[in-house]
Amino acid sequence: GDGVFKYYSSGEWKKSSSGKSVPIINPTTRQPHFKVQACTQEEVNKLMEEAKTAQKLWAKTPLWKRAELLHKAAALLKEHKVPIAECLVKEIAKPSKDAATEAVRSGDLVSYCAEEGVRILGEGKFLVSDSFPGNERTKYCLTAKIPLGVILAIPPFNYPVNLAVSKIAPALIAGNSIVLKPPTQGAVAALHMVHCFHLAGFPKGLISCVTGRGSEIGDFLTMHPMVNCISFTGGDTGIAISQKAGMIPLQMELSGKDACIILDDADLDLAAANIVKGGFSYSGQRCTAVKVVLVMESVANALVDKVKAKVAKLTVGLPEDDSDITPVVTESSANFIEGLVVDAKQKGATFCQEYRREGNLIWPLLLDNVRSDMRIAWEEPFGPVLPVIRITSVEEGIHHCNASNFGLQGCVFTRDISKAILISDAMETGTVQINSAPARGPDHFPFQGLKDSGIGSQGITNSINMMTKIKTTVINLP
Ligand code: G3H
Repeated sequence: GDGVFKYYSSGEWKKSSSGKSVPIINPTTRQPHFKVQACTQEEVNKLMEEAKTAQKLWAKTPLWKRAELLHKAAALLKEHKVPIAECLVKEIAKPSKDAATEAVRSGDLVSYCAEEGVRILGEGKFLVSDSFPGNERTKYCLTAKIPLGVILAIPPFNYPVNLAVSKIAPALIAGNSIVLKPPTQGAVAALHMVHCFHLAGFPKGLISCVTGRGSEIGDFLTMHPMVNCISFTGGDTGIAISQKAGMIPLQMELSGKDACIILDDADLDLAAANIVKGGFSYSGQRCTAVKVVLVMESVANALVDKVKAKVAKLTVGLPEDDSDITPVVTESSANFIEGLVVDAKQKGATFCQEYRREGNLIWPLLLDNVRSDMRIAWEEPFGPVLPVIRITSVEEGIHHCNASNFGLQGCVFTRDISKAILISDAMETGTVQINSAPARGPDHFPFQGLKDSGIGSQGITNSINMMTKIKTTVINLP
C-alpha cells in the first residue's frame, strides 16, 4: 500500500480518514523509518463505543476461556519475537538481544497473568455480620471482583511491547476491554504485538490500538468519558494526565532517580558490576536505571576505578550489532543529556571519560565528584551518563535519596544485612534492592513509586486487582 501501518479497531486493520500519517524516526539514522496512521477524535469515539459494548460480553465469558485466549496470544508473541524485535531495533534502537528478550518476557508475562487471574479472580470472600457489635448472625456477605470497564493503556517508548502487555493482559483476564495508545516510537512493534492478540481470536472491538499525534488525540483519550481506568507509564505527562483525568482509578509509573548507596563494607566488584548494568543497560533509558551513585569516601576511589574499567569494555554502536550503548531515542533527548553534561563540566565534575557524541549516540560517561549544585545530581538524564557523589556518612546518602521528588527504587550494597534493612526502611522509595541494581522484574513482584514516581502498585497480581472493583451481595436472613 502507501507504506503507512494501519491502526486496529473493530477487529480490523484500518486507514484513518484523516489521510495523514505520523513518521517514526529511526534514532540511529535520524531518518523516517515507518509511518503510522494519524487517527482522528471521531475514530477514537468509535472504538470507545465498541470497547464498551465488547466489554459487557467479555465480562460474561468464562474465566478459563479468557485465560485460554491469553495463553494463545502469549505463544504467538514468542513465535513472532523476531519481527517484533526487528521493529524495536529500528524504532527505538534497542540492542537486538534485549529486543528479542522483550518479546519473550512479554509472552511469559501474558501466560503468568492468565494463570494468576484464574486463581485470584476465581475466589472471593464470605463474611458474617455478628463480628461487628450489635449484630446477630443474620447477614451473609459475598464478595466478588468485577471488571472496571474500558481500560486505556499508554506505555512508553522504552518498552513499547512489554509495558503494553503488562497493562493489556491484567485488564483482559479481569474482564475489561482495552484501548491502547502506543508511543509513536515503538508504535509498529506495538501493532505487531496487537496482531498476535488478533490472531489469538479475541472478540472484535475488545482490543483496539489507536495511533496518532498527542496534540490531536492525547487529551481526548485521557479525558474521554468512556474510559474507566488509565494505566500509564512514562514521564511528566503522567502528572498532567492525573490532574485532568476524571474520577477513575489511575495506575502511573513515572520518572525515577534511583540511588545506589555503597557502604564501606560492600563487595565492590559486585557493586561495580551492578552499577554498570543498572546505569548503562539500554543506554540508561530505563525508569529503574541507577541514576546516582552515593559512595562512602573511604571506598570511592576503589569503586570508581572498578566501574571505569567496566565502562571501558562497553561496546558503543549500532543496535543491529547488539552494541551495549546505542543511540538515544531522539535528538531532543540527546540534547537534554548534553545539557546536563555541560552543566556538570562548568561546575567542576570529574570526567572519568571524555564526553563524546555523534548524532544521537552518546558514549558512556561516568561523572565523579558530583555535588548537589549540579543538575545531574537531581535530574534524570535517561541516557548513558552516571553521576557519582562521594558521601562521608550513610545518613548523607539517605538524605540525598530522600531529598529527590522521585521515589521509584533504590539499592544498597553492604555485607551487613541488618544495616541494609535499616537503610531500606529509611529510603523513601517504592522498592529497595539489597546487593543488586534496581529492576522491575520478576514481573509478578510488586512495582511502585512513591512521590512523583507514581500512583498505585503494579506487578501482575497488583495490576489484576487494580483493574477490578469489589462487588458485594448481602444475604439477609429472616
Ligand atoms: O522503564 C521502566 C520499566 O518499568 C523498567 O523495567 O526494570 O525491567 O528495565 P526494567
